[in-house]
Amino acid sequence: MRVIECTHPDEAAELVANDILAALAKKPDLVLGLATGSTPIGIYERLVRAHREDGVDFSRVRTFNLDEYIGLSAEHPQSYRMFMREHLFDGIDLAPEQSRFPPTDDHDLQAACAGFEAAIREAGGIDIQILGIGANGHIGFNEPTSSLASRTRVKTLTDKTLHDNARFYEEGEVQPQLATTMGIGTILDAKRIVLQAFGTKKAQAVRASVEGPISSFCPASALQMHPSVTMYVDPASASMLTMRDYYRRVRENERSLDELGFR
Ligand code: GLP
Repeated sequence: MRVIECTHPDEAAELVANDILAALAKKPDLVLGLATGSTPIGIYERLVRAHREDGVDFSRVRTFNLDEYIGLSAEHPQSYRMFMREHLFDGIDLAPEQSRFPPTDDHDLQAACAGFEAAIREAGGIDIQILGIGANGHIGFNEPTSSLASRTRVKTLTDKTLHDNARFYEEGEVQPQLATTMGIGTILDAKRIVLQAFGTKKAQAVRASVEGPISSFCPASALQMHPSVTMYVDPASASMLTMRDYYRRVRENERSLDELGFR
């Protein structure tokens, strides 16, 4: 796993957005795996700006979101469909039918989840999967003890996740306890994965994901099995990494190789 320690989350957002824009320039029908939460907002802001200010064309892109709550309508302010509209889709030229979310209101959810997986395959697979991480190490809504081979399915959220996300709900408002999420196996099928983690609250999860054993108890540790994962951290989320200096040195050496013209 490549660990890039940035001085600030903005630096990470800039690097990831530029990475996506470079990939898009090479492949106009890029397939993106998208995450919600506060962490990826900076990436989406930069993609919207690239469209508005530089005319970057997203019209052939296809997107697949990681997860969605069961029981919230697409118009609910806390639904991930609404989140994506607000932070990305309304700001770029992407037709609604080119974006898919894990199914949450089909009568036969299992069949619909299989259909979602099939749609990813038909699109040619996800080129770049964006991820955040839960304080308990979850990716998407793959909570601790999720099978490392899991596919898109319904999960019950842990108390920790419910508590962390409770701030988004008004007092007395019903907070969904179920969500449909891409599985860990689904995520590992992406060609490239970028994960961003910022703040002290994520330090433990970052440490366990990068340096801990591969374990379903920390779902993000499964990323160690993927050949192309870059984890962007800030000084706070990197604070518990034991090989922090080494990751910095790796980055310096990568830069030197770049300067020398190596690919
Ligand atoms: C939710 C989402 C995850 C996200 C996590 C962290 O649980 N399902 O995909 O990574 O929150 O959110 P934040 O980026 O706000 O810390």
